[in-house]
Amino acid sequence: MNFNARYQNLKKLFKSNYDPNTHWEKWGNKTKAVHVYANPHKLEMKMKRVNALLNHLDSIPFESVLDFGCGWGFVSKFVLEKFPINDYVVFDASSERISEAKIHLKDFNVEFHASLIEDFEINKKFDLVLGTGILHHVRPEKIKSILKHLLQFTKHDFIHDDPPPGFRTNAKIEKTTFNFYHDYKQIWKDLGYDVNVISIPGHKTRTIYHVKVN
Ligand SMILES: C[S@@+](CC[C@H](N)C(=O)[O-])C[C@H]1O[C@@H](n2cnc3c(N)ncnc32)[C@H](O)[C@@H]1O
Repeated sequence: MNFNARYQNLKKLFKSNYDPNTHWEKWGNKTKAVHVYANPHKLEMKMKRVNALLNHLDSIPFESVLDFGCGWGFVSKFVLEKFPINDYVVFDASSERISEAKIHLKDFNVEFHASLIEDFEINKKFDLVLGTGILHHVRPEKIKSILKHLLQFTKHDFIHDDPPPGFRTNAKIEKTTFNFYHDYKQIWKDLGYDVNVISIPGHKTRTIYHVKVN
């Protein structure tokens, strides 16, 4: 089946069955710690992303962080180990992932929430809003409103790690029933922002997107 046919089929499936909260409570297990650590290749590729992110974060000052779609806190733990941030909030759609994150990040001063991005509310802004490997779970028709929602909480920098521009331009969805590929350069332009695209050494399927909010 070609990509377009797959996309149309999955779109139908998503329209009828997909509710992100239920979906991630049920399928989010795929992101469990054990799966990353049990597969050396997966872990190596994930660490390339983490290291590129940590290097890039050296270029900006920040004292508060919001990690959306934090999973079990794999990336946030590295960020917290390198940068002593006391104002750090994480959230994820899956309450199971949040329970794991509470254990994984127990040595740090972190506030946890179980929430979908679209429902997340907090009465403050963060110097840095960060999301790694999460926006590909957002449906194409929701991506702009989701980013706008997250921008409300962003004081200075919005950083996300996702597939690079041009990645699978012939398909918006692939591999599983929950991966969509968005044209972030165009989306950020449409939202009125310049996006800086930073490549990740040795990693062809992910790149860092950095938007300066002000
Ligand atoms: C691939 S994992 C990435 C986890 C973490 N950011 C990392 O890099 O290790 C994606 C996470 O996004 C969460 N997620 C998916 N859709 C979401 C949504 N609409 N709102 C909040 N979290 C969501 C899932 O529960 C899952 O934990």
